[in-house]
Amino acid sequence: MSEPKKLYIKTYGCQMNVYDSERMAEALGGKGYVETKSPDDADMILLNTCHIREKAAEKVYSELGRFKGLKAEKPDLKIGVAGCVAQAEGQEIMRRQPLVDLVVGPQSYHRLPEMEAKTREGKKALDTDFPEEDKFEKLKNRPKAKRGPTAFLTVQEGCDKFCAFCVVPYTRGAEVSRPADRILHEARDLVERGVREITLLGQNVNAYHGAGPSGDMTLAGLIWELNKVDGLERIRFTTSHPNDMTDDLIEAHGTCDKLMPYLHLPVQSGSDRILKRMNRSHTADSYLRLIERIREARPDILMSGDFIVGFPEETDEDFKATLDLVEQVRYGYAYSFKYSTRPGTPAAERPQVDPEKADSRLQELQAVITRHQREIQDSMVGRKLRVLFEKPGRQSGQMVGKSEYLHAVHVSDASLKVGELRDVRVVSSSANSLAAELL
Ligand code: 5AD
Ligand code: SF4
Repeated sequence: MSEPKKLYIKTYGCQMNVYDSERMAEALGGKGYVETKSPDDADMILLNTCHIREKAAEKVYSELGRFKGLKAEKPDLKIGVAGCVAQAEGQEIMRRQPLVDLVVGPQSYHRLPEMEAKTREGKKALDTDFPEEDKFEKLKNRPKAKRGPTAFLTVQEGCDKFCAFCVVPYTRGAEVSRPADRILHEARDLVERGVREITLLGQNVNAYHGAGPSGDMTLAGLIWELNKVDGLERIRFTTSHPNDMTDDLIEAHGTCDKLMPYLHLPVQSGSDRILKRMNRSHTADSYLRLIERIREARPDILMSGDFIVGFPEETDEDFKATLDLVEQVRYGYAYSFKYSTRPGTPAAERPQVDPEKADSRLQELQAVITRHQREIQDSMVGRKLRVLFEKPGRQSGQMVGKSEYLHAVHVSDASLKVGELRDVRVVSSSANSLAAELL
């Protein structure tokens, strides 16, 4: 028997790319590829790219440049670019970096096997269409391999919101929800393979409105269906938009036992003037009132968010409003970014903030966020939490898992196994994790 061909995939960016990379590996698995952890022994290298901020695309080009030597040694090596940079740049990638054989956009992964065959004939393969069919349906041909205890599952893709800074509506396309029965089928399959926690993914996951048995289903409806799946213990979802936080979803946070008390709800800015210019169609106040309602339904919920500082025309006063909002919400986690100009988006044409000013705002915001994050994590000491153990820790006999609130928790106990869900008592808190004892 001939040696299997080896595939090296490097994933950048969001969790949806992680999910897509798994699907691409499975699609090429059907063509005899097995995954390798090193580009050095690969027959095909795929970079699954992110276009959300400037540096992300530049990183891809510099990574590609590094494969020059490898390709010279091994002329049969095929190099592909997938993901949002592939979608945005298309043919330009092959022009700028001729060693690239294949460019595939996020909506065309199901065509990878044919595209791979084309590259084996010495041709270049490019596909950045937005086809009508469900690519995940076409990718179903997956081996029933055992899985770890946690998995992502894409339920919705694309975005119709057109925030003035964001490329997602252009790279991932219009908002599309997958039918509920396919998602439930995939969830049951994951559970059979060992998965106990599923994170539902979508760029606008709470705008989910997939076909159900009696008309469209909301995200809350889907979560309630998943709640019935035996063997599935935990449900999470990300990323949500404040305007799509429907009453049934808020209520589910109080009543659905498998839905975890954690919500990623980006606000981007605390200034109404900037929110308006960002085309966010919510205000700081409406966002704060929404969080109040979510906390009424589930008082211990841990909030997480995203922020952009230095958005065009942001003044000191606007930035101060963002700091005020952060103080009011107290996020358990928050991700903050310096505004990055994305060509083709409305904000790209507007007067830019001085980069040094943006840098110092970013540092100031991150200091506040880090303080809250640490205070919230420290407040877990002495509490009883339930942890899903995911992998062995760095020290021998140690296991690491996640609490309901997504904090990393490690426990030293040689009897613990991956995939166990156990009650623990937290004994201490350090920079990035909690230490606990089994109860
Ligand atoms: N510049 C900086 N940050 C951005 N994000 C999206 N587009 C940009 C941009 N042009 C951030 C937003 C979003 C997160 C995924 O990335 O905060 O919620
Ligand atoms: Fe981008 Fe806004 Fe859509 Fe989020 S809601 S993906 S930030 S356009």
